Amino acid sequence: MRSICVMGTGYVGLVTGACLSDFGNAVTCVDIDAQRIARLKAGEVPIYEPGLEEMMTRNIGRGRLSFSTEIPFAIKASQLIFIAVGTPSMPDGDVDMSYVFEAARTIGRYMEDYKIIVNKSTVPVGTGVQVAELIRQTQPGVDFDIVSNPEFLREGSAIDDFMHPDRLVIGAGNQRSLEAVVDVYRPLYQNDIPMVLTDVESAEMIKYAANALLATKISFINEIANICEAYGADVTAVARGMGLDQRIGPRNLSAGAGYGGSCFPKDVAGLAAIARKGQVDSPLIQSINPSNGHQRRRMIAKLRELVGPFSGRTICLLGLSFKPDTDDLREAPALEMIETLQAEGATVRAYDPASMEKAQQLYPNLVCCESPYRAAEGADALVLMTEWNEFRNIDLAVLHSALKAPRMLDCRNLYHPRQMQEMGFEYLSVGRPPRRPGQETPEKTSDWLLGGYMLRR
Ligand SMILES: NC(=O)c1ccc[n+]([C@@H]2O[C@H](COP(=O)([O-])OP(=O)(O)OC[C@H]3O[C@@H](n4cnc5c(N)ncnc54)[C@H](O)[C@@H]3O)[C@@H](O)[C@H]2O)c1
Repeated sequence: MRSICVMGTGYVGLVTGACLSDFGNAVTCVDIDAQRIARLKAGEVPIYEPGLEEMMTRNIGRGRLSFSTEIPFAIKASQLIFIAVGTPSMPDGDVDMSYVFEAARTIGRYMEDYKIIVNKSTVPVGTGVQVAELIRQTQPGVDFDIVSNPEFLREGSAIDDFMHPDRLVIGAGNQRSLEAVVDVYRPLYQNDIPMVLTDVESAEMIKYAANALLATKISFINEIANICEAYGADVTAVARGMGLDQRIGPRNLSAGAGYGGSCFPKDVAGLAAIARKGQVDSPLIQSINPSNGHQRRRMIAKLRELVGPFSGRTICLLGLSFKPDTDDLREAPALEMIETLQAEGATVRAYDPASMEKAQQLYPNLVCCESPYRAAEGADALVLMTEWNEFRNIDLAVLHSALKAPRMLDCRNLYHPRQMQEMGFEYLSVGRPPRRPGQETPEKTSDWLLGGYMLRR
């Protein structure tokens, strides 16, 4: 059985460890956070990720997956070491590489024979060379290879993404290490998953380039949505018309409150910083995050348009996590909304299926409620922040009667404007004309095609 050490038990490390053990490898996941390892050893899964707990339990039971703080032992005992530690943003947007470099020094300190060090963290181009240099300085006498294997999983569908990726990217400096890592992924290779086999630098760059383009698509459609609003067009039709062009594709073209999470904002900032450091002009890349910030503030401005000054108001937020099926609040658009509302004297009532515990820790004054209907009680307006599935079939009539005033800002375009108007809501969404009860509004094609429209959503 191949022995693998995974350094870091965050989203990427845990999912990588669980999936590689499911492939039949003996995997030890290590972390410098002793509390996290203690929780994992006690059978607790510290993140909400569909399917992860079952996979972990299965592989722990078969003796293929374990957790440890004994990093030296795990390094010595493993043939391959996967680095999956954090690479957060520094205040100037540059990438904080201290965790990756510390992991590299630790590997150098304890390795006693040939190792393949596979980097899964998202790192600036050139990191492979720096990591190799650090290891060589710490341990000059032992042979090793560095491989870049960026991770593309999305929180909320991480297991499925790991097992059925669009592609695998593996960048290596020689055939020996390339073949060894390809062999680790043989179960996926047999599933016909395309592989991009390249050099370390190109593999590192692929990850940043891909994330920056995905973020650009979101910001682009958000800016198109704002133009649609000014001229009475419907961004959902525009996005569909664009997305059916195969050169564009339909994904990441939903207008909304802007992107969040632990990857897009920091990776876009990281790429912008990499370009600046390399003295490369990149006006487009430099403007992606500012455009996203503008969109978040635009949602706050829309809410102000709906309720007037925030002071003394009660606002209900449905959905807090940066996207559905995760409890991750990092850089979630809901945070800026909560902070602005609370700073300006509003009471915020909230409901989210997974992230309320984390939100309550961040904002002790947030009123966390057990259901969306409870959260709506007595509120001056409701803001839908995250498109959790359970909100798609919510009982809008119950919400309507729970609210003090039936006003809704739908930041995810989840509901049909005409239907909302007919139910008596004052309804604002993104990139679609506003609807108000009793207001004469020109009919849109989507009004006549209500059934088809609903099916398509
Ligand atoms: N979260 C995602 O959806 C995602 C997707 C693709 C790529 N990535 C990238 O993967 C990397 C990890 O992301 P994450 O979200 O899993 O991070 P995370 O912050 O959730 O977890 C990182 C873990 O690494 C541990 N760690 C730090 N230094 C260590 C060391 N020297 N030895 C052992 N453990 C150490 C930390 O204690 C922490 O538990 C980042 O570079 C990120 O950009 C993340």
